[in-house]
Amino acid sequence: MERTLSIVKPDGVSKSLIGEVIKRFEGNGLKVIGLKMIHLDKKEAEGFYAVHRGKAFFESLTTFMSSGPCVVMVLEGDAAISKTRELMGATDPQKAEEGTLRRQFASNIERNIVHGSDAVETAAFEIKYFFNALEIFSD
Ligand code: CDP
Ligand code: MG
Repeated sequence: MERTLSIVKPDGVSKSLIGEVIKRFEGNGLKVIGLKMIHLDKKEAEGFYAVHRGKAFFESLTTFMSSGPCVVMVLEGDAAISKTRELMGATDPQKAEEGTLRRQFASNIERNIVHGSDAVETAAFEIKYFFNALEIFSD
């Protein structure tokens, strides 16, 4: 069993894709064990994406991520990290596999509707960034 953090980004929320994203995850063996809607401010978006500080896309990315509400969720299941990323598809929707969320719904490499943690350590950091122990419900 593994946990990961996923976000329906502001573009996904504005395109009414909250249900679609959750349906893909739940339909593929992932359990939602934490869920909330939040509107990040710029500093909170910068903290979440701290690993990307200094990159060319950082300023634009954190402005986008603080432009509207997001849905953040904790997912649990076998190989939850890789399964979530497989369902999302590649960062650039044009390179994403047919049938993946990003291929199907993303506008471009920045506005790619969904986030998923990329490793066990980053998942632990990202889950803690948004959820305390009382907000996670696991048997
Ligand atoms: O989200 P993912 O792990 O697939 O990609 P990342 O390399 O960790 O980048 C984080 C986010 O930054 C992406 O999901 C995009 O929204 C954005 N990004 C961008 O705007 N331009 C790039 N060249 C790379 C990433
Ligand atoms: Mg990443």
